[in-house]
Amino acid sequence: MSTGDAQTTLIDRFGRVHTDLRISVTDRCNFRCTYCMPAEGMQWLDRADLLSFEEIERISRVLVETAGVRSIRLTGGEPTVRARLPLLVEKLAALGVELSMTTNGATLPLVAQQLRDAGLDRINVSLDTLDAQRFVELTKRNELAQVLEGIDAAVAAGFEPVKVNAVLMRGTNDDEVLDFLRFGRERGVTVRFIEWMPLDAQGAWDDQTVVTYDEILRTARREFSFGAVERGHQPAERFVFDGDDAMDGPGGEFGVIASVTQPFCGDCDRMRLTADGQFRNCLFAIRHLDLREVVRGGGSDDDIVRAVAGEVDEKWSGHQIGNAVFIRPSKSMSQLGG
Ligand code: GTP
Ligand code: 5AD
Ligand code: SF4
Repeated sequence: MSTGDAQTTLIDRFGRVHTDLRISVTDRCNFRCTYCMPAEGMQWLDRADLLSFEEIERISRVLVETAGVRSIRLTGGEPTVRARLPLLVEKLAALGVELSMTTNGATLPLVAQQLRDAGLDRINVSLDTLDAQRFVELTKRNELAQVLEGIDAAVAAGFEPVKVNAVLMRGTNDDEVLDFLRFGRERGVTVRFIEWMPLDAQGAWDDQTVVTYDEILRTARREFSFGAVERGHQPAERFVFDGDDAMDGPGGEFGVIASVTQPFCGDCDRMRLTADGQFRNCLFAIRHLDLREVVRGGGSDDDIVRAVAGEVDEKWSGHQIGNAVFIRPSKSMSQLGG
């Protein structure tokens, strides 16, 4: 950590400066994606354990104003199942950060415009299959039509780009790469394929089930012409359609997030806050800081920054997926905040 008069840079031992905060606003979800949580028997957090909007706003404000946070992403569980979410969006938008949300999309037909009006800048929608029957198998809900409508609603509300995240799993949906690429081009959204990570509730992950970056590109080349472009700080490797396939707008590109075969940990600028106020310096962290206790225990703004900076300082170089030393988090993706 390096401190100036009133400013702190959240820098770790590897020189990575942390400017991105992912805030989970609930551990609950209206879906039951098999790779994210068990179909039955989830223990939900009590309401009193959730950070209030005021607490989330305070932590965010302090980190934005004095610790260099520039972007905030709202996650869940499913963020839109938290009551009165647009109110929180309004509070956070007032901080002047780039404000985004990752959602399963099913409620977007109802709330996309409201969220846009409240000041949300960007939306990413998680969608792993375009096949209605498969959708039910994967999410345990029959709501593909609502999600597709939700994606259109997000585009119509003026979010740009709308990104669609598809987690690929061998033998489950790895035959949909070309369908997704066509879909992105038709709907004017940026599709991103994601290598799935060992965070699934039922422990089905093994390295053979990961559909790799190389495989995805090989399949995409069977039908489309494209080239790589500079990716900046985001985890996705970006590709722009070219030649006869070139087109304008968000549908003119796609991405691959190769978290397993090409981890972006060396470039990581992200921190996360769970719905119950645990601060985590990595998705796979095996330690956490109870920031809720700091806030509810009467901690000052300085105490918040100091605690966060200390935790960032402890960050490891990266996850060790695939190596013997890898330790799987005891919590599911829905509890960690995707
Ligand atoms: P953009 O700013 O739009 O690029 O969003 P994003 O890609 O950072 O966020 P999103 O919530 O859409 O996450 C996309 C995928 O990135 C997820 O499905 C995860 O697989 C992966 N991801 C998100 N956060 C982390 C992280 O902290 N570590 C790792 N290894 N992967 C992550
Ligand atoms: N591996 C990779 N991505 C995952 N997500 C959920 N579980 C996993 C996993 N095991 C994705 C969701 C969503 C994002 C927040 O994380 O599909 O797009
Ligand atoms: Fe819900 Fe997203 Fe997890 Fe699916 S991946 S169960 S939509 S939080």
